Amino acid sequence: MNPTLESPPSAKPAHTCPVWIGHLLANPLRRLLENPRHLVLPLVKAGHRVLELGPALGFFTLPVAEAVGEQGKVVCVEVQEGMLRGLRKRLDKRGLLARTELRRCTHEDLGLAELVETCDLVLALHVVHETISPGQTMADLARCVKPGGLLLLVEPPGHCSPAAFRAAIAGAEGAGLVRTPHPCAEGRRNLVLLQRPRGATS
Ligand SMILES: C[S@@+](CC[C@H](N)C(=O)[O-])C[C@H]1O[C@@H](n2cnc3c(N)ncnc32)[C@H](O)[C@@H]1O
Repeated sequence: MNPTLESPPSAKPAHTCPVWIGHLLANPLRRLLENPRHLVLPLVKAGHRVLELGPALGFFTLPVAEAVGEQGKVVCVEVQEGMLRGLRKRLDKRGLLARTELRRCTHEDLGLAELVETCDLVLALHVVHETISPGQTMADLARCVKPGGLLLLVEPPGHCSPAAFRAAIAGAEGAGLVRTPHPCAEGRRNLVLLQRPRGATS
C-alpha cells in the first residue's frame, strides 16, 4: 500500500455494521434524509455496469438495479454473508436478481482484479470508513472505473474523520480519478464525485 495515503493501516476494521442495522438502513423512511433518486440515480443510465461496495440490504442497490434495466448489471461486493442473504431475497422478490451479481469479499481482499476499468459507475456509500484502509479501498475501487466513468463516495460525517475522508479521496486521485461536480447534491458534507478522464488509464 502507498504509505502516503494513511498511516499506519490497522490490521482489522474498527467496526463492521451489524445485519440488524442493515435492516434499519433499508427502511424506506430513510429516503426523507437521503434519497437515491437525487443522490445516485442521476448518475445511472440503462445498460450501465455498476459496482457497489458494501450494499448491506440494498437501500441503494434496488433502485440502481431498476435503473440499469435488463441490459445492465449491478455487481455487489459485500463482506458479510448475512447481508448478502438478505439482499438476495429482496432482489428476488422484486424480480431484479438476474441483473445483479452478488459477491462475498474479505476485509483484506475485495476481489476486484478482473473488474479493472469495466465499470460505468462505482458506489462507495457509507462503507469506506469500515474498511481497513480507506485510501487503499478507494484506490482499488477507482481502478474499476472505465474512462469517462464515475466513482461516488459518501461517508457519514459522524463516523468518518476528516483525515480518513481526505485519505479516501487521495486514494482515488492517486489511481487517476479527478473530482467532478455532482449534478444535484450541492452542499452535502462528505460527498465527492470523481471521474476517470477519457483517454486516461489506471
Ligand atoms: C454502514 S453499512 C452501509 C450500507 C449501504 N451502503 C447503505 O448505505 O445503506 C456498511 C456495509 O459495508 C459492509 N462492509 C464493511 N466493510 C466492508 C468491506 N471491506 N468490503 C465490503 N463490504 C464491507 C458492511 O458489511 C455493511 O453491509
